[in-house]
Amino acid sequence: MSVMNGNNLKRLHVITWGCQMNVYDSGRMADVLAPLGYGPAAEPDGADMIILNTCHIRDKAAEKVFSELGRLRGLKEATGGRMILAVAGCVAQAEGAEILRRAPYVDIVLGPQTYHRLPEMVARASRAGNAVIETDFPPEDKFDHLPESLTPQGVTAFLTIQEGCDKFCSFCVVPYTRGAEQSRPAEAILREARHLVSQGAREITLLGQNVNAWHGGETGGLGRLLRDLAEIPGLLRLRYATSHPRDMNDELIAAHRDIPALMPFLHLPVQSGSDRILAAMNRRHTADDYRRIVDRLHDARPDLALSSDFIVGHPGETPADFEATMSLIREIGFPQAYSFKYSPRPGTPAAGAGDQVPEAEKDRRLQVLQALLREQQTDFNAACVGLELPVLFSGPGRHPGQIGGRSPFLQAVHVTGSPHLIGHESMVRIVDIRPNSLSGTLVQERRIA
Ligand code: 5AD
Ligand code: SF4
Repeated sequence: MSVMNGNNLKRLHVITWGCQMNVYDSGRMADVLAPLGYGPAAEPDGADMIILNTCHIRDKAAEKVFSELGRLRGLKEATGGRMILAVAGCVAQAEGAEILRRAPYVDIVLGPQTYHRLPEMVARASRAGNAVIETDFPPEDKFDHLPESLTPQGVTAFLTIQEGCDKFCSFCVVPYTRGAEQSRPAEAILREARHLVSQGAREITLLGQNVNAWHGGETGGLGRLLRDLAEIPGLLRLRYATSHPRDMNDELIAAHRDIPALMPFLHLPVQSGSDRILAAMNRRHTADDYRRIVDRLHDARPDLALSSDFIVGHPGETPADFEATMSLIREIGFPQAYSFKYSPRPGTPAAGAGDQVPEAEKDRRLQVLQALLREQQTDFNAACVGLELPVLFSGPGRHPGQIGGRSPFLQAVHVTGSPHLIGHESMVRIVDIRPNSLSGTLVQERRIA
């Protein structure tokens, strides 16, 4: 029974670090707690419960968690200890016992696979006064035990269709923290997508650690799912992230040719342009394999633009290997990309490798690589000046009287225009570029969709 009224309303504050998947998970954790009477609290002070949803992918993840917990401890003490403090996400999964040892005031530690059990954990933590830790990979499918997503997400929404990863890249903690690859059934995805559209979503980004590994049993893979989603009335745009080159199959490439709603912008991480390093990374593809996939994608959708992740300074990376990455970037051209210094993750194969690259050299390579990526981004944006692009408006713009949205290539675009265009696509002539956005003028005060 819902107890969302009057005095029973409890206040939940969620702090989210890391990827879009964590943002989505935070929403779902709020959803499962709503029937217990928890409503959102914008500020952490005085909340009845705080969830810190953590990320473990790089850098000093655990240290950052402990320093944040130190701050939250003060807020908990200010409530006379009544506040329930929960640590979720990938650091919780990897360092659960250590968190309870070093921060005994934490009430609940839960991994990404167990958040459907949160109501029961909250009950146990409130009753016993003992800390609750749930970091096993439960036998039941989390997705089967979650309620429909309730949180309206606005014009652009995210939908997790797949979790976990079986690829075991040498550097990556995800297969350990998120567990084995698991796909949600197509019917549940379509139901949630329809619900999001009924709540005002016009664009849906399908999420997964390895989203193009999604498989729906008899019904086919992601290409097929995208076709079914594109049929939903009112849904204008589809995207998916993040993908592995090995799972870019014919069906999915054909989807880029056949589905106008599938946006011509794809995040397809290659990590490195050196075959030696790709092998050391256990990526199980070569730089040429990647080039061929990009060629096939361009045959299917000539205007498709690519984004990628790059790691510099993976163990064993020589200056020549780094040069191979630079060459691949020059050849393909990435209007947008993320790049990172290799950061050893405890328990992963690369962390134990003998040939680590010195920190200063990693810094140097990152700077060189990022300068090239910045240049490519600026060139791409500059090439858009004078073009007319469809923009899906999702909210107010930077200045009063402006509205803002995204181009098909995910560029932020601001124009002077009426708020009644929010939630619609209109043609915009791009007139200028700014560091992180484009400015344009409406071609006509008219919705095209
Ligand atoms: N060090 C640096 N970057 C990493 N990534 C994943 N693990 C590491 C690591 N140990 C990057 C990869 C991946 C992105 C999500 O994070 O580039 O694609
Ligand atoms: Fe990590 Fe992605 Fe490799 Fe999976 S495919 S191990 S999530 S980098």
